[in-house]
Amino acid sequence: MPADAFVQRLNEQIAYEFAASQQYVAIAVHYDGETLPQLAAFFYAQAVEERNHAMMMVQYLLDAGSHPTIPAVAAPETAFDDVVAPVALGLDQERRVSDQIGALAATARDAGDYASEQFMQWFIKEQIEEVASMSALLTVVDRSKADPMAVEEYLVREKGAEAADPTAPAAAGGAL
Ligand SMILES: [Fe+2]
Ligand SMILES: [Fe+2]
Repeated sequence: MPADAFVQRLNEQIAYEFAASQQYVAIAVHYDGETLPQLAAFFYAQAVEERNHAMMMVQYLLDAGSHPTIPAVAAPETAFDDVVAPVALGLDQERRVSDQIGALAATARDAGDYASEQFMQWFIKEQIEEVASMSALLTVVDRSKADPMAVEEYLVREKGAEAADPTAPAAAGGAL
């Protein structure tokens, strides 16, 4: 059985991951409304990833026999001043999640719950990638404020099909 302190914190993290997913849907819809389809596609895809993170945590608690609670979700920001603001918000969100993931690993370790600590390792690696990619996008968007089409072209050029990650934890119901 995972440590109680870890289970409680992981349940809170499920809410943060779903909230991150909703925030990215809101950002994608904002860009879609501005006819910036590549930026929209980037954030629609991020939204699915965050949803999958939540469902991986749900599956972990199910496997461990610790009943996961599906939470209410905080409302996302839906109004943005310019083309840069949503990406800056996304980077803040990813940095905050990295801290939360680190705290979850620490909670597991402090409780001597090494299985849960190991479960968090994939998320630690994932957060390094997510912060790096959002940070790169912020650099590009910031540089191209006056010409958002340059960002659209950058995203077309850089878009590689993300390879399936066989080390990813299983998601409840299957990853989307
Ligand atoms: Fe996430
Ligand atoms: Fe993320």
